[in-house]
Amino acid sequence: MGEVDPAFIQALEHRPKPHSIEAQNIPLIDLSPLIKHPDSLSGLVVEIGDACQNWGFFQVINHGVPSKCRQKVESAARKFFALPKEEKRKVSRDEGNPFGYYDSEHTKNVRDWKEVFDFAVQNPIIIPASHEPADMEMKELFNKWPESLPELREACDEHTAEMEKLAFKLLELIALSLGLPKDRLNGFFKDQTSRVRLNYYPPCPAPHLTLGVGRHKDTGVLTILAQDNVAGLEVKRKTDGQWILVKPTPDAYIINVGDIFQVWSNDKYESVEHRVVVNSEKERFSIPYFLYPSHYTWVEPLEELINEQNPARFKRYNWGKFRATRNYGNLKKLNVENIQISHFRI
Ligand code: OGA
Ligand code: NI
Repeated sequence: MGEVDPAFIQALEHRPKPHSIEAQNIPLIDLSPLIKHPDSLSGLVVEIGDACQNWGFFQVINHGVPSKCRQKVESAARKFFALPKEEKRKVSRDEGNPFGYYDSEHTKNVRDWKEVFDFAVQNPIIIPASHEPADMEMKELFNKWPESLPELREACDEHTAEMEKLAFKLLELIALSLGLPKDRLNGFFKDQTSRVRLNYYPPCPAPHLTLGVGRHKDTGVLTILAQDNVAGLEVKRKTDGQWILVKPTPDAYIINVGDIFQVWSNDKYESVEHRVVVNSEKERFSIPYFLYPSHYTWVEPLEELINEQNPARFKRYNWGKFRATRNYGNLKKLNVENIQISHFRI
């Protein structure tokens, strides 16, 4: 059974179920029409719109990302997390800079059974210096890379470039599915604040008491996740609130819409809760790419999607300040709920 630090122990109602060998999986979508029939995408657009509306999550295959590129980043991530703690701590995140290595993140005030390495897609990145609404000062942040493992940076750069291409294809398909022009949303990303995380979930002696990541929603526009062949991600099914394990499909990426799409679509595409279960034998690796807009973006329901019958359900909020407030809360481990889009609900 083994003893684990009480900081990791979930309240009874949030502990994973023994499991859930579910027949149902999230939708699997074939993106090959993008290459084969770029002029007749209506079937694909409907499929994506249905998946966004009914699940908030789907997997994609034939996405155009070379498997070699993905294998390279997975193997570099394995090497990084296998380094001695002192090596990893040389690139630790700190109060002033949320990028780098971290092994004690808390989700909803319970410690996650994981280690992470974060970096920004644009380097340097410009974001608000503080979460205080009146403070207009900006700061420049640089990524931190381990000197002893140069291949990590190289593999991450290559994979991130592929993720970015895929993210914009998906952004356009989702825009079309909402009845918008394909490039309607592209302008929000001129100075994008997107980031990538390498997740490492070590084997856990008490997997029935802990979670790799506690239940949460992603705050951004959309997330593209590469997971290895060890299952662990669970998605809350909208129809009945059951936790559904996402079975790994070789070479597929898992896509979910985040809070910003929920606001943009005025609740049509809800950002769905998910979490990660760990296991006692196998370690697991995953790599999410979080698509985030420019820090100066005001997030609000798109004007084309609201009218008198369907008025805006959210007040606008500033993306840079929202993230700064979230990071402040994460670091200080405040005993209050993190900032959420529900705080802007009208
Ligand atoms: C995340 C997340 C899922 C996974 O990092 O936000 O939901 O399978 N990760 O690692
Ligand atoms: Ni997530």
